[in-house]
Amino acid sequence: MNVGWLEVVVATLLISLVVSLVLARGRHWLEPSFWKVAATITSVVMATTLVLLTFHTLSAIGMGSKRVPSPEVINMEIGYVYNPDRRAMEPVIGKKTGLFGKVWSAEEAQELITKGKLVIQSRNCMDCHTLLGNGAYYAPDLTKAWLDPKWEKQIMPMVGASTKEDAMKIWLMNPDKYPTWVRKMPNLKLTEEEAKAVVAYLKWMSAIDTNGFPANFPEVKVSQQ
Ligand code: HEC
Repeated sequence: MNVGWLEVVVATLLISLVVSLVLARGRHWLEPSFWKVAATITSVVMATTLVLLTFHTLSAIGMGSKRVPSPEVINMEIGYVYNPDRRAMEPVIGKKTGLFGKVWSAEEAQELITKGKLVIQSRNCMDCHTLLGNGAYYAPDLTKAWLDPKWEKQIMPMVGASTKEDAMKIWLMNPDKYPTWVRKMPNLKLTEEEAKAVVAYLKWMSAIDTNGFPANFPEVKVSQQ
């Protein structure tokens, strides 16, 4: 059975009710001591549920969990397809392609992604963009930026790159030189190493299953592993 928020709410209410009734049996419901027992039991059951949910959330958002891929995913092709059962888009992992001409080990990939995150923090990209829903709404959401078809269709020919990652790297180093939208992104003086790390971070982030967020992103098909 799929346990969702409704099941958790119904179960906690039922447990609170049954345990309270058992422990307060023999007391009239208008007696204050009846409600004392009911309040204590309900608080204990709800607090326990919150602790369990917190542990569940921590395991569900950790790297390498079902929805959040491990760093080595940067070596794989990443697709994005509609799942009619969930009524949501979901990432699919395709074949191994490497990134920037090499296959990164688990440690190297982790290091690169961490650097990418630090670069993003150092330049305050969130002043204009949103990542996983956090940030500002001046510029496009970056959660699925890696999957934007514009890299292949528009930027690769524009900057003269032969791979998507190179196109993204060159664009990130010169966004003011290659504008594609009504608003221009300023040049944030990323070095080549910094731009590569940002590309890896954005690629990893695009493989996170975000329940189809942000909406209206086009499908990207990949050959399965
Ligand atoms: C001052 C606001 C601003 C800041 C800060 C900023 N950007 Fe942008 N960014 C933009 C705008 C505006 C665009 C659209 C520009 C275009 O398409 O020519 C954009 C576009 C992008 C795109 C293309 C998204 C897509 O799918 O179309 C990426 C990737 C990107 N930015 C990454 C970054 C990163 C990484 C940083 C931090 C290192 C950053 N941006 C900081 C304003 C900003």
